[in-house]
Order: sequence, then C-alpha cells, then structure tokens
Amino acid sequence: MKYAKYLCVAMLLVFATVLSGCGSSAQKETRTVAVCFPNTTPSWQRNGDSLQKLLEEDGFEVNIQFSATVDEQKQQIKDSIAKKPNCMVIGAIDSSALSDVLEDAKKRNIPVIAFDRIIMNTDALSYYASFDNYAIGDGMGEYIAAALNLKNGGGPYNIEFFAGGPSDNNAHIFFENTMKILEPYLKSGQLVCRSGQVTFDKVAVADWNSANAAPRINELLNNYYTDAPLQVVLSPNDDIAGVILGEIEKAGKPYPIISGLDGDPAAFERIKQGKQTFTIGKDPDVLTAKCVRMIKAVVEGVQPDINDVTNYNNGVKVVPSFLCTPMIIDKTNVNAIAGN
Ligand code: BGC
Repeated sequence: MKYAKYLCVAMLLVFATVLSGCGSSAQKETRTVAVCFPNTTPSWQRNGDSLQKLLEEDGFEVNIQFSATVDEQKQQIKDSIAKKPNCMVIGAIDSSALSDVLEDAKKRNIPVIAFDRIIMNTDALSYYASFDNYAIGDGMGEYIAAALNLKNGGGPYNIEFFAGGPSDNNAHIFFENTMKILEPYLKSGQLVCRSGQVTFDKVAVADWNSANAAPRINELLNNYYTDAPLQVVLSPNDDIAGVILGEIEKAGKPYPIISGLDGDPAAFERIKQGKQTFTIGKDPDVLTAKCVRMIKAVVEGVQPDINDVTNYNNGVKVVPSFLCTPMIIDKTNVNAIAGN
C-alpha cells in the first residue's frame, strides 16, 4: 500500500516532467523570422512594418532590425544567425558585402531570402522576392519618352540624370534599362544633357542618400542652367526626387518633368500639387504578402511560388525569384490610389 502511494507520486512526477517537456518543445516550435533591413529611405520602414504585421498575424515571432551602415547590418546579421531563426529576410545595404557573413547561415541551414535587393556572390541565398526591376527601368524611360512625344520627333529638351547608390544592384538595373530607351534620343539630339554627365558613375547618388543629391543639382543649375531651362530630370526614387524638387524650388526655377520610384506618400502629395510628374509604385503590401508566402513554404520545406528562374544571376547561381508588378502613378490615377 505504502509502495503503491510512492508509485503514484513517482508516476505523477514522471507525468509532470513529460508535460513540462511538451511545453518546452512547443516553445521550440515557435517559428522565428529574422529581418534585417536598411533604414536609409522611407520605403524600407513601410516594408518592415508591413512584413512584421503579416508574419505576426501568421503566428511567427519576428526579430526585425534596421541599420544605417554596412558594418551595422553585418553585425545585425551575425547576431540574428546566432539565434538560429527558421528563416532570414535581408534587404542588403550593400549587395556585394554579405557573402562572408552569410557563410554561417548556410552552415547552420538557415534559409535566406533577399528582399527587394538581390545579394550577390553567395550560394547561401535561397530565394529573391522583389519587384520586376527591369520593368521599373523600362517604365521610367518609356514614361519620359511618351511625355515628351520623342517617338514622333519631340524635342529638343534639356535633361539631367540621377541614379541610385552604386552598392545596390537594383540601381544599376534601373539606370541601364532607362538609358537603353533614352540614349537614342540623346544621339538624335531630341534630348540634350548640357552637363554631359550621362554615365552611372557620374550620376549615382551615394548610398541612395537623398541629401547627397542636393549639392549636385545645385551645381548643375548653377553651371548649366542659368541661361536655359532644365526641362527633364531622371530621379531614381521619390526620396531623391523630393530633394531635387526642393532645390529647384529654392532656386526659383520651374518644375521639370521628373520621375520617382516607390510610391512614397510625400510623392503622392507632390504629384497632386503638380510638382512631381510620376512615380513607379511598389506597394509594400503586395511584396510583403508574396514574401510571407515564400517564408512559409521555406519553413515548411516546400517549394515556394516563383516566377523567374533566369534573370537574377548573383555571380554564383541564378537565384529563383518572385517578381511583383510595379505600377505607374501620375496625376491621372494618384487620387484613386492614394485617396484625395
Ligand atoms: C529599391 C528602391 C529604393 C532604393 C532606396 C532600391 O534598392 O529598389 O525601391 O527606393 O533602394 O532604398
């Protein structure tokens, strides 16, 4: 009888241990996603907020970090890998600077998804979720060509070019594709670049930092446009367009036809006010929804939806990608998209 009592107590203890064991394995099963983004432009914060919200709604634990410099981002990635998340999502500050740090992710079998910007020279990258960057470059060139009626002989118009940060692969794709469309018109004389600065290295805005665009637009205005109008500006995104337009305004000059990218709320306002001509909208909810589907598939070990297996070679492999469709937004549709 006495022994039976001890046996009962012992069984209860075993039961309790098993239960607490269950508790800890249930805890281990909480799936975590580490997100490392730049904090350099407003669009990254929007993307981060949207991604975090959707992942949390799906029961993921999200560890999201933003960084201003490559070194800070590398440290954040190292710290994240050490916590062994189920998946990592990275918006690279420098597309080519992460191969070393990602070696460890590969060793630990942590799948890595590149968000918006591809990560170069690494086979640690599993997938790429972005917008169609080639279509963005084409879209900018085609909009400008149509607005100036260049196909039908329009011009001559004075144009100046700006491009994104050299350390971002997207910046090169955007610029090259836009230039493929506009270069013939520079040759024909329908577009005139008075500064002669038409190559990526001459027109890139370091780190996509919009503050870096201010001195250059002022230099251009002072050196080449005191006796002639600057009629067209290629701006690689909305943040930079805002700074360029601000400086043009301060100089008391008329607004040029000017491009943008991202669909920043501030750009919608400028389009409504007739200051910015158009933007190419990259709806954060569209990309993050696709990215979340990709994360879920990767975590469950199944093949995610991809729609491109040819265009994004990162120097080591062709990265399977899902590319969302960007949208041109100008005065004709801005109210419908952004509200009044
Ligand atoms: C993105 C743009 C963004 C820029 C600056 C690029 O890689 O594609 O949407 O405006 O980075 O953050």
